Amino acid sequence: MNLIFKTANPNDTIAVCIFDETIENEFLNLINQLSPEEVNDIRNFKNENFRRQKMAGRVSLNYLLGEAGKVEYNEHGKPLLKSHPFDISFSHAKDKVAVMLSKETAGIDIQDITPRIRKIVHKYMNQPELDSLKEETYDIHATLYWCAKEALYKAYGERQLIFTDNIIVEPFSFIPDSGTFKGSIVLNNSKKDFVLKYEIIGIFALVYLWNE
Ligand SMILES: CC(C)(COP(=O)(O)OP(=O)(O)OC[C@H]1O[C@@H](n2cnc3c(N)ncnc32)[C@H](O)[C@@H]1OP(=O)(O)O)[C@@H](O)C(=O)NCCC(=O)NCCS
Repeated sequence: MNLIFKTANPNDTIAVCIFDETIENEFLNLINQLSPEEVNDIRNFKNENFRRQKMAGRVSLNYLLGEAGKVEYNEHGKPLLKSHPFDISFSHAKDKVAVMLSKETAGIDIQDITPRIRKIVHKYMNQPELDSLKEETYDIHATLYWCAKEALYKAYGERQLIFTDNIIVEPFSFIPDSGTFKGSIVLNNSKKDFVLKYEIIGIFALVYLWNE
């Protein structure tokens, strides 16, 4: 596995790695630090890509912590790092894995950029967000909105959020190849604001919370 992106501030650490089939061997080096249940849960995934993505998450976490770390999941699927005092978030896309550790709130998402995003923009973007898209940069910009909403969804960690109404991104202009913008989780009468950052890494869009 190779590190292709890393950034940090005093509260957050973010890393993106690329992996291949050798991740299965790298994962083997960790298994005596993990519980038998965790190892079985990961090894029992029949889908090769999915299994390798899970393994890559654990290997990249080991890279950031210097040890394996103990991860459990809440009833909504949110990962909880039981061994260290950090909020944690994972994302995978093809051969990339992204991991974020935060003393505050972690939320990260990586996606490949494709024109297929055009078919679903109305399902997750509201009108002011859609109005900020320009034809020349439509796919990349719309993917950043998608990643932002997924990262905020993971930060919240529960399932009842409607992307168009409860996860709001302050409309922003796309500037290559990195930038900062704002997003909020709006529920009932409460609104929680977050700063987000993005990076374009080849054909991949990466968005993560930034709790500086
Ligand atoms: C759960 C979800 C966010 C995962 O995103 P994804 O793009 O499919 O996959 P990613 O690789 O980016 O993320 C997977 C990671 O999300 C994390 N995750 C799953 N559920 C989570 C939750 N409720 N809270 C926080 N993190 C969660 C897990 O850590 C998982 O990785 P792991 O299994 O290796 O630990 C996504 O499947 C989802 O349900 N999104 C909401 C769907 C929705 O409401 N869409 C409406 C708009 S059309």
